[in-house]
Amino acid sequence: MKAIGVFDSGVGGLTVARELMQQLPYEDIVYFGDTARVPYGTKSRETVFRFSIENILFLLKHDVKLICIACNTASSVGLPAIKRHFKVPIVGVIGPGAKEAVYATRNKRIGVLGTRSTIKSRAYDIEIKQLDRKAKVIATACPLFVPFVEEDWLNGKVVLEVARSYLKPLKDGRVDTAILGCTHYPLLKPVIRKVLGKKVILIDSARQVAMEVKKILAQDSQLNKKRVSRHRFYVSDNPEGFSKLAKRFLGSAVQNVKKVNSV
Ligand code: DGL
Repeated sequence: MKAIGVFDSGVGGLTVARELMQQLPYEDIVYFGDTARVPYGTKSRETVFRFSIENILFLLKHDVKLICIACNTASSVGLPAIKRHFKVPIVGVIGPGAKEAVYATRNKRIGVLGTRSTIKSRAYDIEIKQLDRKAKVIATACPLFVPFVEEDWLNGKVVLEVARSYLKPLKDGRVDTAILGCTHYPLLKPVIRKVLGKKVILIDSARQVAMEVKKILAQDSQLNKKRVSRHRFYVSDNPEGFSKLAKRFLGSAVQNVKKVNSV
């Protein structure tokens, strides 16, 4: 029985893997974290596109039945073009997150937070406008959020001040819904909520992504009836660092992380 392939620029995609494990307990996951080349969020479209193709080729060597691009940056640089290269179903995180936000908003004012590359791509704006022409999107890059999470700075004065500054356009724009458009941001939910207020709905696309994966596998009669193997984790560098951070994102420890030399 084949596994589900998941890749991210590093450890953050485990927030998506976690949701997949919860919603699809009989499925095995092959996870690849490109820790040698992280972060993707500061890199050009061409570079992230090339990395994504390489990561998919790596996962295909593990005979996966579907690939989930858990990284917002990689999903935003041209999922349709990436899909055209492969026969295997590929699910990104932008469409599912946009869908949930459009469904949730009441005043049609949606905020989007992401890395510089994700925001520059305007992938969320495009997807949201396709679903609802009248929706107003206020998008802003939050480049310090990823290092904050990786350094375990999830609250405190500095984080709060930075969040206040990044989120000002969303507050001024009176959004009632905000998409956490980066794998790391769900861990900053408490501080984001503090700044935006309790009434603003925070969308973390992982749940919706897992639902989409389940739907595709069910349609293709590819859902496992029982667990056959176990989850496998690969990285392109620093497996110890990955294991250490993994618990924070996955909720449980990850053992046997293998380093691969080339993807
Ligand atoms: N995984 C990336 C994302 O979701 C964040 C980390 C990075 O910049 O590579 O956009």
